[in-house]
Parts: sequence; structure tokens; C-alpha cells
Amino acid sequence: MPPLPRRPYIVGLTGGIGSGKSAASEHFVRLGASVVDTDLIAHALTAPGGGAIEALRTAFGDAMIAADGRLDRTAMRALAFREPDARRRLEAILHPMIRAESARECLAATGPYVILAVPLLIEAGGYRERCDRICVVDCPEALQHERVRARSGLADAQVRAIIDAQATRTQRLAAADDVIDNAGTLASLQAQVEHLHESYLAAARAR
Ligand SMILES: Nc1ncnc2c1ncn2[C@@H]1O[C@H](COP(=O)(O)OP(=O)(O)O)[C@@H](O)[C@H]1O
Ligand SMILES: [Mg+2]
Repeated sequence: MPPLPRRPYIVGLTGGIGSGKSAASEHFVRLGASVVDTDLIAHALTAPGGGAIEALRTAFGDAMIAADGRLDRTAMRALAFREPDARRRLEAILHPMIRAESARECLAATGPYVILAVPLLIEAGGYRERCDRICVVDCPEALQHERVRARSGLADAQVRAIIDAQATRTQRLAAADDVIDNAGTLASLQAQVEHLHESYLAAARAR
């Protein structure tokens, strides 16, 4: 019998908006890990010509598709906040596509292990069971708020609404095997990533 394709060692990386997931995963990449990022996959699916565009056009009409053919994320976000049913239909289209594409990318990854970066890893089904380990980037909500506001220029109330719609810190921490404390400097975040990288290399070798 041909050998079964060997699934890589997968570390699920999550955290609330603005917690520092991207900063952490950028450093894991620098150290040589493969990163599969469901945010990037979602962006690609909803870019001009992306795999989800025609399904979204059919579901929500031309008003949600910008002139250049991408999903109008601002309009879609407003609709999804206004109408919970629209949010559910949006997720029913996107989530299966994101799950399938991320699974494909994990199998194709060539690094010693895979960081599977999923903002809603705790909230969405279908990810935790794929992960050998779960790593949570954590910081106080006030810092999340400040960092998101500085990064995006979103209004306070919008940032608040996004944070409130996500899992709580307590829920995330309860699911964590490893925690990156990102209440400090970027240098401190990176030192913690380096330490975890060594342990993930060892765990991936050991299995
Ligand atoms: N420890 C830190 N110190 C200062 N700024 C940080 C730190 N961690 C992240 N940031 C900044 O905060 C913002 C949010 O971080 P990011 O990694 O994009 O969060 P996420 O991907 O979880 O939404 C970014 O602009 C990032 O550069
Ligand atoms: Mg990010």
C-alpha cells in the first residue's frame, strides 16, 4: 500500500482582533514555519475573480460587489451587522470555502510545522480538531481597542462591537495549550514566539 500522505504538525494560532496574531505569525514565518492564514484566504476568495465572488453576487446582488469585481467589504460588513440572517448566509458561503482551502494549504506546506492562523478558531467549527496544539495571543481588551483604533481608524463603537461579537478572553484562554502574552513590547512578543518555535520544532520531530 502507498504510504498515507503525512499530515504536518499543526499549531492553531488565534486571538481577538488587535491582539497581535499577525505580528506573531510574521515572526513564526521569519523563523521558518509555514503559515496558513484564513484571513488571507478570505481576502483572496473575495478579491476580483476570487472563488466566492459569483456565489456572493447570487446571494446578495450586485450592490455588494464593487466596480472592480471585489466584494465591497464595507457594505457587506454593514449589512451583516444590520441583518443577522445576512451574516449567516455570508458565513454559509465563505466558511466551507475557507475550511477547504486552508486544509489544502496545510497539506501542501513544506515547513517543519504549520501555523494555522484563524481569528475565529474558538468560535468557528472545523478548526480545533485539526490542530495538534492551540496557541492564543492574549492582551487586555483596552490594548486591543487602542491597537485596532490606531491601525484601522474604525470608530470606538465599531471596535467595541467587533470585540463583543468575538469569544471572550476567558473562553480563548480556556482552549489554549500555549499563551503569548502581548501586553508588552514587540520584542517581548518575538522572544515568546522564538521560545515556542523551538518547542514546536521538537514536537513536530517527535511525532
Ligand atoms: N506588542 C506590541 N507593541 C506595540 N504594537 C503592537 C504590538 N503587537 C501588535 N502591535 C500593533 O498592533 C496592531 C494590531 O496587531 P496585529 O498583529 O495586526 O493584530 P491581529 O492580527 O491580532 O488583529 C498592529 O498595528 C501591530 O503592529
Ligand atoms: Mg491580523
